[in-house]
Amino acid sequence: MVKMIPLPYNLNALEPYYSKETLDIHYHILYKGYVDNTNKTEEKLAKARLENNFEGIKCLERDLSFYGSGAILHELFFMNMGIPIPTTPSNQLLEQITKDFGGFDKFQNQFIEASKTVEASRLVHTCLGSKF
Ligand SMILES: [Fe+2]
Repeated sequence: MVKMIPLPYNLNALEPYYSKETLDIHYHILYKGYVDNTNKTEEKLAKARLENNFEGIKCLERDLSFYGSGAILHELFFMNMGIPIPTTPSNQLLEQITKDFGGFDKFQNQFIEASKTVEASRLVHTCLGSKF
């Protein structure tokens, strides 16, 4: 069973960059949804194993991957936000980014465009029939 980690700071700790309301939604609704649905999916998989009925295994495995990774990614986000980090890459990292992407701006553009296409960036339909 997956359990929610406690938020390591107050809901308003990331303002003005991340509003209290936005963090509240991501922690109490979205992250909770990923954790709850990970557990529901694990229960369904346990039932499938018990009954030796794997008719929906492809969908359940996909859900476990989606919800589980959503929970883990939120935890990484919560744990890493609030830690002072440099706003520009180190010289060594900038050199590698320039080598690999042709420049920091090109790296940023690719990252931004790629983030718009990930599954969690929009509502999805899953085996559990829930949307969040
Ligand atoms: Fe989120």
